[in-house]
Amino acid sequence: MINAIGVIGAGTMGNGIAQVAARAGLSVVMHDVNDELLRKGMSAIDRSLQRDVEKQRITVEEKRQIVSRITPSTELTDVRNADFVVEAITENIAVKSDLFARLDRIVRDEVILASNTSSISITKLAAATSRADRFIGMHFMNPVPVMRLVEVIRGIATSDETCSTTRELVLAMGKTAIEVNDSPGFVSNRVLMPMINEAIFSLYEGVGSAEAIDQIMKLGMNHPMGPLQLADFIGLDVCLAIMNVLYDGFNDSKYRPCPLLRKYVDAGWLGRKSGKGFYEY
Ligand code: 3HC
Repeated sequence: MINAIGVIGAGTMGNGIAQVAARAGLSVVMHDVNDELLRKGMSAIDRSLQRDVEKQRITVEEKRQIVSRITPSTELTDVRNADFVVEAITENIAVKSDLFARLDRIVRDEVILASNTSSISITKLAAATSRADRFIGMHFMNPVPVMRLVEVIRGIATSDETCSTTRELVLAMGKTAIEVNDSPGFVSNRVLMPMINEAIFSLYEGVGSAEAIDQIMKLGMNHPMGPLQLADFIGLDVCLAIMNVLYDGFNDSKYRPCPLLRKYVDAGWLGRKSGKGFYEY
């Protein structure tokens, strides 16, 4: 039975996961490396829940209770009593592996370690721990409180029990789990990112303006956001990192990141978070 969860990382994904878990009644320790990051994460949660108060989906008292279930902490060892841990830190395999090796020593033996990675190999991350059978990918979508999917990724050694516990947790968090096997980009980003990359190529080659490309996909394919708008929303550095994982993972030129995407990332034009990407914010 999972009652307490550790969430590592208080950024967009981490604070979203913490919020959804607390809303489901779990007690949450949200860890990040400094107080400033935790403060930002907690205020994002506050803003998101405030929307629900304004829409009369929850009361002020319910909001207060949800927030009170989240304990922000800069000490990683504070997750020692967690029944399940989800990691949502920077997309860097060395940094993640180091974190998982530390978590492996901190949490109880039976605790499952999950990564919210968007494309790094679950099998590789699991190898940094002594519990590859209790290691899994738990890929939430942005914005976490809104999106229904959690892509659940089995590494080569992930046990059936780990999968079923994770699926139950996803369900308890009000989301739908869809299970896939470990492979570069899993399914979500293997399908999504080449589409975004192709939209960037269309812009690069002058086939259409950013607005035209986005409107075509919104009005013609009923996508809620056009691919360039979505790229800005995800972060162009994240998009490039995922294309590189596909390119290197399959050794196939069809996943070559568009040079324009590289150039934007080099310029520090990372999308919404930097104030400029394909659009200005
Ligand atoms: N937190 C909480 N709620 C939010 C929110 C947030 N950050 N952003 C939007 N919402 C809620 C709004 O309150 C609103 O709720 P309601 O309809 O129940 O009242 C609802 O979402 C719709 O929001 P808006 O009316 O403000 O705006 P839109 O209708 O344009 O919807 C959107 C915003 C939900 C973000 C929509 O544009 C969308 O679905 N876009 C696509 C998102 C997507 O594809 N995400 C996946 C990205 S890929 C990924 O995450 C994987 C990674 O590995 C790259």
